[in-house]
Amino acid sequence: MESSPQVKLAPSILSADFSRLGEQVAEATKAGADYIHVDVMDGHFVPPITIGAPVVAAIRHWANLPLDVHLMVEAPEHQIGQFVDAGADIITVHIEACPHIRQAVQAIKELGVKAGVALKPGTPIDTLGEVLCSLDLVLVMTVEPGFGGQTFIEAMLDKIARLRAELDEKGLTAELEVDGGINAEVAPKVVKAGARVLVAGAAVFGLGQTVNEALGKLRASLL
Ligand code: DX5
Ligand code: ZN
Repeated sequence: MESSPQVKLAPSILSADFSRLGEQVAEATKAGADYIHVDVMDGHFVPPITIGAPVVAAIRHWANLPLDVHLMVEAPEHQIGQFVDAGADIITVHIEACPHIRQAVQAIKELGVKAGVALKPGTPIDTLGEVLCSLDLVLVMTVEPGFGGQTFIEAMLDKIARLRAELDEKGLTAELEVDGGINAEVAPKVVKAGARVLVAGAAVFGLGQTVNEALGKLRASLL
């Protein structure tokens, strides 16, 4: 029997209680999260405005694990430095927001953090082109970016599988992260398709259960 792959869980604080964000981050850390996923939105690339670098700096000492910063902003190359200074460990930019994606990735790496590129659901994998081999992470959006609590787009399973095949074929070690609508029902399907980092917001910080219970449910769904 095939052994199950190592899967990381990355709770998205977008659905956390912002009035006690530090505690929520600490709860996720204690519950065994692998990354804390931070959704930065600028009101242009996506309609909402969420949080910026000062909030990343504020939660930094509540989490002794990597901060995975997902920039849903126009011209993200101008923002990279402040997020690195704030304590980001992984910075992911959207390919749709970067006319010069190679330079953006290089700029992230030069500042000593890991570089990711995100694709909206309608953006084909091959737009990554030659940049794929220099990435630490590829983020496949499984909902349209902008809002938590949306329904997973099933058609993304095939995209995940094709990207997994390409990474394996080329011997690339970039982490394949999925983001949007991930819950205990969807999690085993995306892992089977090839995802290795699962972002989850509503399923972790939603009402009616503790962060510890919610992360436990997600982990159990993968056994
Ligand atoms: C959406 C964000 C996601 C979001 C996921 O634009 O990138 O990280 O918080 O939330 P859920 O898990 O609720 O779909
Ligand atoms: Zn995200």
